[in-house]
Amino acid sequence: MTLLVTGGAGFIASNFIQHWCQTQTEPVVTVDALTYAGHRANLMHLPVTARHRFIQADLREREAVERLLDHVKPRAILHAAAETHVDRSLYYPVETVHNNVMGTAHLLQASLDYWKGLPAEQAAAFKFVQVSTDEVYGSLPAEAPPTPVGAAFHPNNPYSASKAAADHLARAWHQSFGLPVMVTFCGNNYGPHQYPEKLIPFMIRQALAGKPLPLYGTGLQQRDWIHVLDHCRALASVLEHGVAGQHYHFGSGSNISNLALLEQVCDQLDQLRPLPGGASYRSQICFIADRPAHDQRYALDSGVSERLLNWRCEIPLERGIALTVQWYLENPDWFDAVSDDALSAWYRLHYPDNVLP
Ligand code: TYD
Repeated sequence: MTLLVTGGAGFIASNFIQHWCQTQTEPVVTVDALTYAGHRANLMHLPVTARHRFIQADLREREAVERLLDHVKPRAILHAAAETHVDRSLYYPVETVHNNVMGTAHLLQASLDYWKGLPAEQAAAFKFVQVSTDEVYGSLPAEAPPTPVGAAFHPNNPYSASKAAADHLARAWHQSFGLPVMVTFCGNNYGPHQYPEKLIPFMIRQALAGKPLPLYGTGLQQRDWIHVLDHCRALASVLEHGVAGQHYHFGSGSNISNLALLEQVCDQLDQLRPLPGGASYRSQICFIADRPAHDQRYALDSGVSERLLNWRCEIPLERGIALTVQWYLENPDWFDAVSDDALSAWYRLHYPDNVLP
């Protein structure tokens, strides 16, 4: 009995592995290509245990994926490996597709071959969990109710389109070949170890460096923010109780604008790392040209998952933000450990001369 987690050196999966090691006895193998956002630094804090092993492999290499499954012989797979940043996908669209779509296709096909060779009892227990995002649904109109399970996909940027494509493949491998696939869709995750190209760690890093905090457009776009630990508990629950072919939504319902969220982050920083003379980090907030095809609103209806899995979000946004800001303040070396490359794509996109505003 071994769980295989892809993308294990990235944000969500590394938090998941920590949660798994703390709550389960089943061994877990992490696979990661260690490309720009996957870092061993994200696994350093794990308890030293024979129950966790790391393997470096690239899902874009089909033979490597086949060898991996042959070697690990998992009882279930949590597929969390993906390039996840919208801005980066606007800059490197084909690479994003190659990673997220072909990586998933290789893993699905290798899983199918492996699954077909399992004894009946193990085959019946096998699960392939495809971790996806609410971004595949596209922008939700202001007055619309939260997106229900089964809504049509309307991805608007290369990242969300690549995830939607991968999710369609996962569905097709279930429909066509019977592979026991379940797909999960989550809101915007936040918490420790998030690569600093994403809103919250990016802004914390900028704020501490005394640099501008640039919001796209009006800053009034809304996201469904979920603490990564709430998401990890949800994924563990799908691995235990998930049903083949089912889709699961995991949002917190805490829709707030990017501006209001950033103000909360600034307020936490004001408390924990006050600026001289009582100034507020809020004064560093500025507004820049909008991101192309920027989705205005995401919100998920998680009611079905709550009922089926008896799962609830346990970390309210305000507390989650406080814990998260505190974590980044206590781990300044982590930013350096994951390299400066985080900012380069962002700057290339918005400031082609690499000049800060
Ligand atoms: P992000 O963390 O990139 O996630 P996603 O685009 O996948 O939702 O961004 C979250 C929101 O914050 C999104 O609406 C874009 C916005 N944003 C800014 O306004 N400025 C920034 O510098 C970044 C990185 C994001």
